Amino acid sequence: MPGSAAATTSGVRHVVSAQQFDRARLEALFAAARQMEGVLAAGGDDRLRGRLLATLFYEPSTRTRLSFESAMLRLGGQVISTENARDFSSAIKGESLEDSIRIVAGYADAIVLRHPEEGAAARAAAVAPVPVLNAGDGPGEHPTQSLLDLYTIEREMGRIDGLRVVMVGDLAHGRTVHSLARLLTVFERVHLTLAAPAAVRMRADVRALLRARGAEVTETDDLRTAVAGADVVYQTRLQRERFAESTGEEGEAAVGLAERFRITPELMARLGPRAIVLHPLPRVGEIDPAVDADPRAAYFRQARNGVAVRMALLAELLL
Ligand code: CP
Repeated sequence: MPGSAAATTSGVRHVVSAQQFDRARLEALFAAARQMEGVLAAGGDDRLRGRLLATLFYEPSTRTRLSFESAMLRLGGQVISTENARDFSSAIKGESLEDSIRIVAGYADAIVLRHPEEGAAARAAAVAPVPVLNAGDGPGEHPTQSLLDLYTIEREMGRIDGLRVVMVGDLAHGRTVHSLARLLTVFERVHLTLAAPAAVRMRADVRALLRARGAEVTETDDLRTAVAGADVVYQTRLQRERFAESTGEEGEAAVGLAERFRITPELMARLGPRAIVLHPLPRVGEIDPAVDADPRAAYFRQARNGVAVRMALLAELLL
């Protein structure tokens, strides 16, 4: 699958996992995203005129849904959307995801899907005659978020090879870090430090993949030490909505440790002057707002990059 979008239905190109992207495709996508920044500065264009995107969200979203919709509209396309498909689509009447996808595919040229169940995007792709883009499948993956994360790292740091990246927080349930860890293995000499409480350490399948690909990985529960020498600190929130599926004990243990994993001005003093702090957002206390004014706080620039990256991806898939 590396190097091409998964072609699971009659050659249709889907984006289900970060593992579909190899270095050449990433570099081409990032070059296109740079050009899209120019298109945005010029007020957009109409290269996707006549094309229609459906955004089908069974879980809440601010950034992913609106940035995809913004990207489509900026390229002259149109959007149909359901922002709470769990309650306001026929899912509430018992319609299967597969049937819903078959129907929506008859109305649109591509589908952006967020769903609470891991594997939902792959199930959708298996029946969709139009591209399905995984906008988050439960605790599984969030590949387009990792594309904009990586684009931001490249844009801010000027390179990805050889960087020291620290991932922090709920690495068990955070789908963005599952995708970003996969993408980082495409680059050379990237050192990954996984800083998390033991109860929410990086999940085993991602650790196994990192090992299989020969990635340099360190695990720790000491963020203060981990950030020394880091180029990128990627913070995540505790995924409280996922704990209902886990034991309460696990959730409480992680919550009890959360303070030790907070990014504060004091922690920033341990970071180098060229380092950056990223977060997929939303944040719920794990980055002190006092950090926002620090030029190394790149998370709002990161969110903004989502539009250009998604414009590039939509153009790649729909033209
Ligand atoms: N980063 C991210 O996925 O944000 P939303 O949940 O707001 O889409």
